[in-house]
Amino acid sequence: MVDGTDDLLTRGRTFAPDPDFAARATAGPELAEEAGRDRLAFWARQAHERVSWERPPTETLDWSDPPFARWFADGTLNVAVNCLDRHVDAGHGDRVALHWEGEPGDSRSLTYAELTREVKRAANLLTSLGVVAGDRVVIYLPQIPEAVVAMLAVARLGAVHSVVFGGFSAESLRARIDDAQAVLVITADGGWRKGAVSPLKPAVDAALAADGPATVRNVLVVRRGGNEVDWTEGRDLWWHEQLEGVADEHEAEAFDAEHPLFILYTSGTTGKPKGILHTSGGYLTQVAYTHATVFDLKPETDVWWCTADVGWITGHSYVVYGPLANGATQVLYEGTPDFPAAGRWWDVVEKYGVTLFYTAPTAIRSVMKAGREIPQARDLSSLRLLGSVGEPINPEAWLWYREVIGADRLPIVDTWWQTETGAIMVSPLPGVTTTKPGAAQTPLPGVSVDVVDDDGTPVAPGGSGLLVVTEPWPSMLRGIWGDRDRYVETYWSRFGDRYFAGDGARRDEDGDIWLLGRVDDVMNVSGHRLSTAEIESALVSHAVVAESAVVGAADEATGQAVVAFVVLRDKAKVDLDPEEAAASLRRHVAEQIGAIARPRTVVLVDELPKTRSGKIMRRLLRDVAEGREIGDTTTLADAAVMGVISAEMR
Ligand code: PRX
Repeated sequence: MVDGTDDLLTRGRTFAPDPDFAARATAGPELAEEAGRDRLAFWARQAHERVSWERPPTETLDWSDPPFARWFADGTLNVAVNCLDRHVDAGHGDRVALHWEGEPGDSRSLTYAELTREVKRAANLLTSLGVVAGDRVVIYLPQIPEAVVAMLAVARLGAVHSVVFGGFSAESLRARIDDAQAVLVITADGGWRKGAVSPLKPAVDAALAADGPATVRNVLVVRRGGNEVDWTEGRDLWWHEQLEGVADEHEAEAFDAEHPLFILYTSGTTGKPKGILHTSGGYLTQVAYTHATVFDLKPETDVWWCTADVGWITGHSYVVYGPLANGATQVLYEGTPDFPAAGRWWDVVEKYGVTLFYTAPTAIRSVMKAGREIPQARDLSSLRLLGSVGEPINPEAWLWYREVIGADRLPIVDTWWQTETGAIMVSPLPGVTTTKPGAAQTPLPGVSVDVVDDDGTPVAPGGSGLLVVTEPWPSMLRGIWGDRDRYVETYWSRFGDRYFAGDGARRDEDGDIWLLGRVDDVMNVSGHRLSTAEIESALVSHAVVAESAVVGAADEATGQAVVAFVVLRDKAKVDLDPEEAAASLRRHVAEQIGAIARPRTVVLVDELPKTRSGKIMRRLLRDVAEGREIGDTTTLADAAVMGVISAEMR
């Protein structure tokens, strides 16, 4: 947990905006005044000014059937045209849209004119494969330009993409293809990661094996890794072969503002991931608005770099839709920060003259650990703003980020948001907000949030509670794919008319907001969201496991780490070497969900701590996992069990 007000490092330290920066900032204090006067008129202006509509909306918000919002509902647009053609039409066709850097050192730059052409060809190809508006297309690709092209081609047709992060396993991929009933999968042979090709196609083959989803007609395969792949004739098609000779003219149709744009699966508190649904006009409005104002974008001169993978919401909103809607030039990098050596990221910053840089606290902590001499050996003078996202940023990392990467002067924006919110909700505005290390601070103009206690009463300054969003916002999720009730239940049942985010928060004496981490059974490991229930069900799917309980334990490097307490079946206890059993269970979770979910520690125990009604007391396990004194055990059915578990942990 981060609580900067108690942190000796930062007590009282604040950073006022640099006057030169403020004088030239995209957004000034008048934005909040405007939104405060008339929130809906403010959003209507954003929608009209930042988005090109085929038919401009006359309606702003329809909240007649809460919690199902409709924004700009009588407007029509094509999202891909907004990200591409309109910039070419405005005379910016020669501006670079993507500076792509492959991990092995190959690179490729695509202008807006070139990217538009690629997307039109891909859209024609998808049409020839029978993809029509409303169809779902799963994209399982490395961080290569084709990922952006594929997403925009799907959007151009009014089809719905579901991007699955390349680190997810075949099993996770299968579940997502199945839930969305996808007709097409776009993948690659493999991508580069830490100096080797990491294959992707085998996971698609496994996901679509005999008992897999039957809805998929074709698999389009981009050649990237050059690795050998199995081939299913009639189903599998090479992307480059299919694109040969395809026309580069494509007339885009306009769709309703509420037409679905994408589904993105994220972890919830149950074992089944939720397909978060986003639609077109409101989403595009808020990602364009936030990208421009929070990061002070000057599209003519800035070079934007968001290090997130397109497989996560940050990649959707701040690699694809926000920056491209704003006509920005950006860097897209395929590999890891430390390949071939620890300074790779800073080489990329230097090479492309990156001006605006957006990454996650976990990455900042790992570069911190590698030592300041590495970034200091590079020329980072092009940078003019730094951003953070994905988890609470500890004040120490914030200060290091500013001092070492930010030359002790750059503004830092700590942006709070979620897959569900679609776009940034709480963040300082550079040039306006006096920042506090470790705090996301203020809701953006147009966004209304509060911190409330368990009964829904707003906490007084200095108090802690739960973060809620009190008014609908344009880029809010429109539901969970195929599960209307779960949407209502998960986000709206707790406080009725307010959106429950699942995060704890504190309001300080100035009214600023500090995020304190999740309050539910969701973990945040290296900025990736994982569900304890999902990992538990992966563990119990292993033949030797009788029962398991998973907790997120504080971890210096990754924010939280997965710690699994496992009870083996009686026979396995006798037959298996404990070390081997733990290793095989860690492997099993990686196979079932993906390497990101692999437990850091597996503790084999004889019994789990339970209440008399049989509920597992995770709180006590967290105490053990974090090496704390064990809390109140009076409600345990068997008080002795905790003594045994803590002995086993040592
Ligand atoms: O707990 C919050 C944390 O990440 C969660 C959302 O995860 P996800 O949907 O994967 O989206 C991550 C990228 C937007 C939130 O519920 N989180 C995100 N940003 C911050 C944060 N926690 C604290 N401070 C942040 N800036």
